Amino acid sequence: MQCTKFTWGEWGLFFEQAHEIRDLKQNAAQEQENTAKSVDRADENSTGDQPFGGVFRPGLRSRIRLLGLVHSIRLIKMYTGSTASALFETRVTPARIDMPNHFGERLGQYQRDIENLVVDINDPYQISTIERTALARRIDKTNMVIYRFGPDYGQDRSAVTALTAQLGLGDPDQNLCADADGLSSIQVHPEGVRQRYIPYTDKKLNWHTDGYYHRPDRIIRTMLLHCVRPAMEGGALEAIDHEIIYGLLQERDPRLAEALSQPDAMTIPENGLSGPAFRAECSGPVFFEESGTLRMRYTARKHNVIWKADTLTQEAVAVLDEILNGSGDLIVRRSLESGEGLICANVPHRRDAFIDSRCVSERRLMYRGRYTTPLRA
Ligand SMILES: [Fe+2]
Repeated sequence: MQCTKFTWGEWGLFFEQAHEIRDLKQNAAQEQENTAKSVDRADENSTGDQPFGGVFRPGLRSRIRLLGLVHSIRLIKMYTGSTASALFETRVTPARIDMPNHFGERLGQYQRDIENLVVDINDPYQISTIERTALARRIDKTNMVIYRFGPDYGQDRSAVTALTAQLGLGDPDQNLCADADGLSSIQVHPEGVRQRYIPYTDKKLNWHTDGYYHRPDRIIRTMLLHCVRPAMEGGALEAIDHEIIYGLLQERDPRLAEALSQPDAMTIPENGLSGPAFRAECSGPVFFEESGTLRMRYTARKHNVIWKADTLTQEAVAVLDEILNGSGDLIVRRSLESGEGLICANVPHRRDAFIDSRCVSERRLMYRGRYTTPLRA
């Protein structure tokens, strides 16, 4: 952990967090009684506006875990980061990401490579040069790769962190629902707080990039989903390279891509919470450039974002929706099996609804890792 200097404001939040921990302990027994009420409220919200994760709703405190002191400090840093950043202010252009003349070539390569995205990893604790090259090629051409561990490693959590360590991804970005190693166990939680967040239900997840609501100093650049156990039925994953989306928008009308690159194109409203879960309103672009690399932030959830009201932005959002939902031949669709995982440059992705096993030990289980480190193999 890095040595950090805190401002008085951050120390204030720190003590607030300490009180939060005390309250969590005091309220643990009380929450047990409240669980039934929570389920009722969640049912009311089941078609409403659930967050993808990482935040708590007012009045509901986690009984899943009590946050440790070190964890608290990390969280404080996350939620008190700066909103000012040249990242969101600098407009991406095709020239800045070397795309003016090469999109047709990139598109053709992408279509060929998504037909063969799977790389078999014999030993995730020590990937071979050939395996690394195969991973790198797919990441370079499509911004994603599907790896497949051998049967001995399907449920081996540390094999996942061993692989990400060899890819230089560092520690996963922490969030309030992550486990100690930073990975989040995505599984249906029929009771308690987590079932209020869509990833922890059996419902479909619409198109999004992970952490689209994060501030510019905490951009999620890489995302991993590892399948421990698939659902009994359904739950397929879909993904599409954001560079392809940007190129398609450029082809349709460069003004559309430009509109979605405005630093105020999308505004994520304040979440209305207090304490460490507070997140202020944050505006930013959908597309932005970082050292010549295109990045994307997006959610299709209309209640989670306020789009800029001008005509061009509104049209661009509609065309983006059309691309995401009408480009079947450009979308990677896969029902991940045990031991398979997707690693990507946080490209837009979605999930089908699914039917889970009635047996708890056979329920669908995915590990999710979010990384601020760029994906390079
Ligand atoms: Fe996601």
